[in-house]
Amino acid sequence: MYFKELKGFPKDFLWGSASAAYQVEGAWNEDGKAPSVWDYFVRIPGKTFKATTGDKAVDHYHHYQEDVRLMAEMGLKTYRFSIAWTRIYPQGNGEVNEAGLVFYDHLIDECLSYGIVPMVTVYHWDLPQALEDQYHGWENRRIVDDFVNYAVTLFKRYGDRVKHWIILNEQNVFTAHGWMLASHPPGKSNDMKMFYQVNHHAFLAHAKAVLALKELYPDAKVGSSFAYTPGYAYSDKPEDAMAALDYNDLQCFYWMDVYAYGRYPKASMAYLESLKLTPDIKAGDLDIFKQAASKVDFMGINYYQTADVEYNPIDGIHNMNGENNTGEKGTKPITGVAGLYKNPQNKNLPATDWDWTIDPMGLRYACRIITSRYDLPIIISENGLGAFDKLENGQIHDPYRISYLKSHIEELKKAVDDGCEVLAYCTWSYTDLLSWLNGYQKRYGFVYIDREEDENSGTLKRIPKDSYYWYKQVIETNGEEL
Ligand code: NOJ
Repeated sequence: MYFKELKGFPKDFLWGSASAAYQVEGAWNEDGKAPSVWDYFVRIPGKTFKATTGDKAVDHYHHYQEDVRLMAEMGLKTYRFSIAWTRIYPQGNGEVNEAGLVFYDHLIDECLSYGIVPMVTVYHWDLPQALEDQYHGWENRRIVDDFVNYAVTLFKRYGDRVKHWIILNEQNVFTAHGWMLASHPPGKSNDMKMFYQVNHHAFLAHAKAVLALKELYPDAKVGSSFAYTPGYAYSDKPEDAMAALDYNDLQCFYWMDVYAYGRYPKASMAYLESLKLTPDIKAGDLDIFKQAASKVDFMGINYYQTADVEYNPIDGIHNMNGENNTGEKGTKPITGVAGLYKNPQNKNLPATDWDWTIDPMGLRYACRIITSRYDLPIIISENGLGAFDKLENGQIHDPYRISYLKSHIEELKKAVDDGCEVLAYCTWSYTDLLSWLNGYQKRYGFVYIDREEDENSGTLKRIPKDSYYWYKQVIETNGEEL
């Protein structure tokens, strides 16, 4: 749509920034914390860039006061962070660890003391290893009860102070990488049947946690965060349009439809049935999905890029693994599913050094699809640029990050005028952090952290980048001065 003048962001808009426990905290074995699946996975040779781990990460566990103070000085309205299940229930279930609960009491109180709204992610991938050992974690339906028990512990402890909850982070990513691509724990490849089963368990965990929270705190706002990569048809050929429909159904609506409608998309299910890949759905499961969907308050989306979608014949490429984890531009292979679609690089758009397409308008497009299809409020729970930053005379000049964020916020503003109800925008990330498979060289933060891949390197000093001061002004002017 075209509007002569833009109305701008609502007055109570939550300008935020985000992180995840494993990526920032460090202190991997302190105060009663037991290992998560990631603590094991990163130790498998060849899994992460230069064998980096989150043992120390950026030591947010010991620097949280300094980090939150910097947020306050910037004027941040909300801080999205996740809780490490292994600090709360080191064994996944059983005895609760009071020291773990206390850490997040302090973090939440620290945020609130500056008027920063804590937005809590219950699960950002760091499953207790003990549950993997007990019953193979997400593969077993037993996970649902343990997850809800953990979530309810958080709701009861923090629900008086935390009003924004994100239950699962990027269910589509941790399941695809874990069971199809072998690049996240538990490191399985091409186990499609289990991939859909694991997703069914995760949907149940999400749904039951939503219902439990609403029972305790009806006013809390809740949803999950989906890694949304909308698909564009590569050309005006009808088969590309159909391929884009298949991609969007199987790669996007398969998750968002369950969160928002409480049902799986029909065409995806028909396809899975034809391949005998449908999950085992027990009586009552879909009712639970439906009840939870009626209580969900927002669609959380992590937006980084769009995908081009081209028809891919049955004898075409079959490769789901399209990662460039080194930062050597142009090394990302084309992905595709034979008989359905493939995803060539978009010729009209630039890409990052890790070959992620840069598409600011895609953010507006994503919001529009969600609004038309689900009519739900939206939280942008992540958006940001991974880049190499260079420390020069004690400063970081990152005009590329400013320009990336500026162009995305401009498009978000247009989405607001289009009628999308956007509640919050969280950049990824607040400080630099461990980028799972990409080590510490792929930096996303407003605040530079002095450390490299080597665990013993750097002073962990916090240095605000140019983008830190730029975002401060964006917040001050409620997005008017970009
Ligand atoms: C999404 C994930 O939630 C986050 O953990 C990750 O670091 C960013 N994407 C960037 O890859």
